[in-house]
Amino acid sequence: MTLVDDARRVRENAYAPYSNFKVGAAIRATSGAVHLGVNVENVAYPEGTCAEAGAIAAMIAAGDSEIAEVAVIADSPVPVSPCGGCRQKLAEFGRGDVKVTLATTDGTTSETTLGALLPGAFDQHQMERA
Ligand code: THU
Repeated sequence: MTLVDDARRVRENAYAPYSNFKVGAAIRATSGAVHLGVNVENVAYPEGTCAEAGAIAAMIAAGDSEIAEVAVIADSPVPVSPCGGCRQKLAEFGRGDVKVTLATTDGTTSETTLGALLPGAFDQHQMERA
């Protein structure tokens, strides 16, 4: 089973009654463990959380902190594009060359990397004085 298959399966559990746009995310950590997340919306709209954020929370709760691969899937006309906030959240835990597969439920996929998703990412080095 691929990481996209994992994301596809967990997507069914998304809670998206307001947008009706269910998203599933799967993260394979460097340990080999796979951590899953879905979007969880709220009647107070800004309180909703993205699938990627859920997968990151599951990864950290399980004791992993280094991302090896990511897959995200939604029922969208083109492979779903992670929001800006999720790009920054993912960048916290993975190197720039980490493979990210973006998928549609119809089977179209697009491959990218964490670095390509967030060029010029803010990182810890920018908080250090010379
Ligand atoms: N969403 C995600 O969970 N991940 C993405 O990459 C894009 C957007 C969610 C947030 C919200 O629940 C719904 O999709 C519509 O924006």
